[in-house]
Amino acid sequence: MPRTQYDKIASQYVRMAGPTKEDVLKPSFLSMLGRVHGKKVIDLGCGSGYFTRIIAQAEPHKVIGIDLSRELIKIARKLESRTRLGIEYYTQDIIRFETKNQFQIAAAVYLLNYAKNEKVLSRMCKKIYDFLANRGRLVAITMNPGLKPMRHFEYGRKFTGQHHKPFFVDGERLRGDHFDEAGKAFYFYCYYYSSQTYERCLRAAGFKNIRWVPLRISQAGVQKFGSAFWEKHRENSVGIGVTATK
Ligand SMILES: C[S@@+](CC[C@H](N)C(=O)[O-])C[C@H]1O[C@@H](n2cnc3c(N)ncnc32)[C@H](O)[C@@H]1O
Repeated sequence: MPRTQYDKIASQYVRMAGPTKEDVLKPSFLSMLGRVHGKKVIDLGCGSGYFTRIIAQAEPHKVIGIDLSRELIKIARKLESRTRLGIEYYTQDIIRFETKNQFQIAAAVYLLNYAKNEKVLSRMCKKIYDFLANRGRLVAITMNPGLKPMRHFEYGRKFTGQHHKPFFVDGERLRGDHFDEAGKAFYFYCYYYSSQTYERCLRAAGFKNIRWVPLRISQAGVQKFGSAFWEKHRENSVGIGVTATK
């Protein structure tokens, strides 16, 4: 498999600076995830397994993680061998992963925004639908359709577009500039889609009950940094939750 953009930045990505993963993404993901006990869960675009491990700690019947990046999966497996949680990891494009009607929950944290056009987004949604058992749930976080281009770094990252307009255009490629904990800069590309495009692709795949869920800040995050610190997140959240059922 050729090197992916995340293979090149894997070690920096896992040491990404900024408090949003711990204080925004984690509490938001947990509140959308609901009860996991005894269920089969697939974590799509699992990266180094940050959310896969959160799922595993909630005692599912089984959890597997899939990611395109060999380097990120290598890190995920190393962490699994240090602290065994029973997670299986696969280096694969989710579009090529073959399994059907298996999982009660499909997690996808910042995966859908890597579809390079609407056709690919549609294929991803269909594939996820097929992975799920009847009445299975998609629990996703993706780029917020309400996101505006950033002039400055906020919480250690900045997202800008190609068109340099005050708003992003459906399907526009975005560049996400970040810092790692050592202060070294890195970036990746992903794609912006409107809520209509996401909903069209999810519905065409067969999903029902599509809900947009604003990301929340943990109590610990508010206590640690104070409420004013989170103003930029409230004004221009990078991510948003989306859930749907089969
Ligand atoms: C922003 S990272 C998120 C990783 C992880 N979910 C997390 O939040 O820590 C996006 C991940 O999606 C993976 N990815 C993108 N397109 C994919 C595809 N078609 N199949 C599998 N993984 C994919 C990338 O390799 C990358 O690791």
